[in-house]
Order: sequence, then structure tokens, then C-alpha cells
Amino acid sequence: MTSRLAALRARIGGYAFGGDYNPEQWDRPVWDEDVRLMREAGVNLVTLGVFAWASLEPEPDKFTFGWLDEVMDLLHANGIAVDLATPTAAPPAWLAREHPETLPVAEDGHVFGFGNRLQFDPTSAVYRDRAARITRALAERYSGHPALAMWHISNEYGPVAYTPSSAAAFRAWLQRKYGDLDTLNDAWYTRFWSQRYSAWDQVCPPEMPRSWSNPARRLDFTRFTSDALLECYTAERDIVRGYRDDIPVVTNYMRFYQRADYWRWAREQDAVALDIYPDPGQEDSRVAASLNFDLMRSLRGEPWLLMEQAASAVSQWRVNHPKRPGRMRLGSYQAIAHGADSVLFFQWRASRGGHERFHSAMLPHSGTAARTWNEVAELGRELPRIAASAGSRSRAQIALYFDWDAWWGLAESHGLPRNDFDYPALVTEHYRPLLLAQHAVDMVGAESDLSRYRLVVIPNAYLVGDQFTRALDEFVTGGGTVVCSFFSGVVDENNQVRQPAYPGAFRELIGAYIDEYWPGRADEEFAVRFADGTACTADWWQESIHPETAQVTARFTSGDLAGRPAVLANKRGAGRVVYVGTRLDRPGLARTLLGAAAGAGVSPVVAGAPEFVEAARRSTDSVEYLFLLNHSGIEAATVPVAPGGTDLITGSQVTGPVTLAPLAVAVLAYRK
Ligand code: GLA
Repeated sequence: MTSRLAALRARIGGYAFGGDYNPEQWDRPVWDEDVRLMREAGVNLVTLGVFAWASLEPEPDKFTFGWLDEVMDLLHANGIAVDLATPTAAPPAWLAREHPETLPVAEDGHVFGFGNRLQFDPTSAVYRDRAARITRALAERYSGHPALAMWHISNEYGPVAYTPSSAAAFRAWLQRKYGDLDTLNDAWYTRFWSQRYSAWDQVCPPEMPRSWSNPARRLDFTRFTSDALLECYTAERDIVRGYRDDIPVVTNYMRFYQRADYWRWAREQDAVALDIYPDPGQEDSRVAASLNFDLMRSLRGEPWLLMEQAASAVSQWRVNHPKRPGRMRLGSYQAIAHGADSVLFFQWRASRGGHERFHSAMLPHSGTAARTWNEVAELGRELPRIAASAGSRSRAQIALYFDWDAWWGLAESHGLPRNDFDYPALVTEHYRPLLLAQHAVDMVGAESDLSRYRLVVIPNAYLVGDQFTRALDEFVTGGGTVVCSFFSGVVDENNQVRQPAYPGAFRELIGAYIDEYWPGRADEEFAVRFADGTACTADWWQESIHPETAQVTARFTSGDLAGRPAVLANKRGAGRVVYVGTRLDRPGLARTLLGAAAGAGVSPVVAGAPEFVEAARRSTDSVEYLFLLNHSGIEAATVPVAPGGTDLITGSQVTGPVTLAPLAVAVLAYRK
């Protein structure tokens, strides 16, 4: 069966291009100009109704669909497909007024009032009932509409609530997980600080504690919250699917979003969709953007949707810089290079009022005279040239571990040797040298199949489950290479120290034990020397390592642990494990990771390109597409590539190395 995403692609005929369209913010005559300009810019898909609950149901059960009928018809008449949203991310004022119990309550008991958005308790029965009613009404009315191409459920799921309803749902979740209280008491190690429970009704969400609360309880509440939000999604998904089964149902994810375990969520969706807003004020934000794109592609192992990006400035940072000319185009191709099948924006027309009135738009306040408009319209007209590459896939030989349980373990665990771990930042540091050396990288989670990779990189996985520990060991004994960084494999799924320590899960894997963690003092740097004489520095973290089967490949040459191991290499079965017991500086970590990649026989996508060139491949059964992106705003770059391809944007033949002007992009197609 063709996937629902493939059906959307076939309908669109290539890459989806468009964005959030909020006609309820504008008077009727504006809509005609909207669709005229959408056509001019090559828009083929818009997301409609995301925040339109109050316009669709101004009073309980009184629906006003007339305006939406008209917009749907108008878009259809102009050949623009609709990604229709359920408006449940922004409940109307009447719900907050009549049912204040639907409002979320923070950890400290503070109630979030009406006037922003996402002001709902995901466990509230009343909220879920009202969300189901508006969803059903929309599905009933529009499922058969010819403009409808996709359902967009709610928006950026995120609220957490410490309410009586949340407590009841948390208890039910725990009962399903543990069965009885003794098992829960063991899992939460409640023998510490007299925290033992003797009846289920004593168990609550971890409200604001006097000082520090139980780390296993916090971890479970975090897992529960992700599941409770996912239930809101699946409830609405099932309603719309009941009316029509052949179009994709999605919701939009956020960059490095801690509250939802997207590995679990992705299984419930027809496609992964991402909203991303790299800060144009920070040149380096392109590294984390590519990582997030690779994560999105890896979650389902297939193309994904870039659901929202900014045409230029956002309105969420302290200072909101515009994207310099050419950067929006480059960022769009960057997403495509990493597997996106769409370029969609928030939003079509810049709002006149409201919090996001200065957030850029495809059509800015100054209209078609604006630079942004021209860049958007040019991109919209250009994308059809690479339409054939939509739907193509990629496959890397390097896997980078990114796991929500590992993240939550660090983030929900006060009382660690240091309590300022920034998991996404640490993962990004491991990704950076691979990206800058033009390596292709997939992300993997605890349940991913590792057998297709040559190198698996495990950055700071403090918490690991038994299943992953076994899978990793099988991968290594079977001939794989692993690079594992400090403070990994330390605790089990219940946030309890694995014994014998440390690292209880990985002691045989790394071929050493650690008797003490030794965080660095502020501003302290340690000199590190590799066996071949190369030197680098490290900071932030050290470990007192005792090799068992491993060889020492680098030692500290200064500081408290001078002379002691910093980096190890261990042979295990047919494979090899490199263990990095400190935070190496960027050259030190790059050398370690690139050395491991070369040792594992992994070649980069292109060789001999400067670091500011990004390279990625996508392919179909018959064609391979090579994407080359020059991120430098000032330097041109010449990239050695094989002759014989076609540059899809210019139409020219590739006869030798390709030269990319500053910020230029090339999409080269090679017949297989
Ligand atoms: C998010 C939301 C949008 C909008 C944009 C821009 O991604 O989904 O509604 O708020 O951010 O800030």
C-alpha cells in the first residue's frame, strides 16, 4: 500500500510549499488577494485553522463554519490543497470561564489563565470532550471536501498539569506500569527519606518539593506527561481517521523538545513534521538545525515535513535578527537535503496585531515590495525544478544516539555529580565534527536496529535500559565500532545506580571501571596527550578510570588526575569501543570521532570540501541526488564531485568539480 505521505506527494507533485494561513484574522476582501499572491509564489499547500476555535465555535456547540466553507472553496478553486488543523491548541475564553478546571496548574500550584494559548490540562475530561466535539464537527463537514489533503492535529503539544485530574491519571498510569504498590516502592526506592507509600491515593505528581524530590518519581511523571499528551493526539487522530482513511494525519514537533518522546510519538503518525526557528543571530545555529533534521528523518526512517520556519526574523528571542539575503533559501534546501519533503512557513501573511505581529511572514507587512516576499516567491518558483527528488531517502553508516529517557534521566535528576548537564548541547557537540566533515548521520533511539551501521556514537547516555545495553553489546561483538562519552551507562530505567559500578551497564563494553566521577572546577582546563603525541585540552568533567581490558589512548597531563587515562580503546568480540572519559575540546573530539569513523571504514559524502560546505545524499531506486550547500556568506567553495550528473537547478551537466558561490546550493542528480 502506498503510504499516506506518498499519496500527498503524488497529489502535490513534488515538494509541498506554503505555510500557516490564518484568514480569520483578515476581512473577506483580503482573501482574494491572498490566493492571487499564493499562486504567484507557487504555494500548493496551506495549513488552515490552527488557532481558529473561537471563530469556529464562538459559543459551546454553536458552530460557524460559513467562513471556513468559503476559504476551503476559494483555495480549491485556485488549486491550493489544505492541511486542515483541529484548533484544539487554543481553547476559547468560554471554556476557561465555564470550566476553570481545564486550565493547567504549574508545579508550584500557580494556575495558568486565559489569554495566551495551550492553556489546557491534557488530562482534563472536559477539555478532551470539547476537543473531541470540535474535531468531530470539522471531520464531519470537511472530510469529503476536495481541498482537503492532510489533517494537522492541534499544534506543538506541550502543557503539563499538576491538577487533581492529572494526579488520577498519573496513578492509573503507574498502576498499569507497576501493578502493585510494592513494585512501585521498589522502583522509586522509597526506602530513602521515608517515602514509602502504603495506599495508592497517597501517590501524586511531584508537586514543588521543599527541596529535592525523588528522581524516579520525577522521571515517571515526565514519561506519563509525554503519554498523556500523546493520548490527546491519538484521540483526535482516531476521530478524523474514522471519516477518511487515505490522507496523512500529523502534528508538529519542536526542535529539541524535552517534554514529548518523539520516538514513541512518531509511531502514531503518518509523517513526522517539524517547526524550526534557528536563531539568525547565531551563525552556528545551522549545526543544531541539521541535527534536528536528521532526527526527524530517523524517527520514522523516511521523508518528513518541514511544517514551519520563518521567512526572516522570529519574535521569540531577546533581539530578533532578520535572516540575511539568501539564508532562508539555504535553510530550506538544508531541510530538504536532510530528508524534508516540504518547505512550509509560519505564516502566510504577517499579523497586524497579537503577540507575533513582528514575526516575519511569506507576505510581510510591507507586501510584495518586501525583500522577503521576493525571496519566498523565487523559492516557490524554483522548487519544482527539483520535484523529482521529493520522496527520495537516505541511509547513513554512522548512528548517533538520541534518547528521551537518557535526556530525562539527566534533566529530572538533582543530586548528580554535576547538575548542569545540557543533553542536546552535548549531543550537538558530538554531531558537529561529523557534519563539518560531510559525514551522513542517522539518529537512533533505544529501540532502533543498530545492525545497519558501522559506527554508533553514544554521547552522555547516563540512563540506559537493558534492551539497549544488550543491543549495543551485540553490535560491538558482531564487529561494530562504538564511541561512548563520559557518564554513560550509569543508572537503570528507575534512575538507580547499576552495580557493580561504574558504569554498570557498560563496564565490559568499555573494558574499564570508574571508581569516582570528578567534575572540573569552573574555568579549570586539563591538558590531554594522545598516544601518538597529539595534544588537546579538556574541561568540565573527569573520571578516575581503571582499565581492565582496554588500552589507554590518551592521558591527562595536568590537573588532579595527571597521568591517569582520559580516552580508552577496547576490543570486544569482532568490534571496538572508544571511551571518552572527559569533555574534550572540539579538535580533540573531532579527532576521536573522525578517527573512529575512518577506522570503521566509513567515508564522507564528499571528500576534500571545506567545513562550511554541507553535503547530503538522497536517493531513489534509479537516481542519486547529491545536495551541496555553501554556508559561508563570503567564501566560494570548490567541491570535487563525480562527473556525469545534472545540476537540477541550473539544468547544466556536471563535468568536474562544482564551484559554489557564497550561500549557493546545488542539487546534482546521477542516474544509478
Ligand atoms: C510555533 C507555532 C506557531 C508560531 C511560531 C512562530 O512554531 O507553532 O504558531 O507561534 O512558532 O513563533
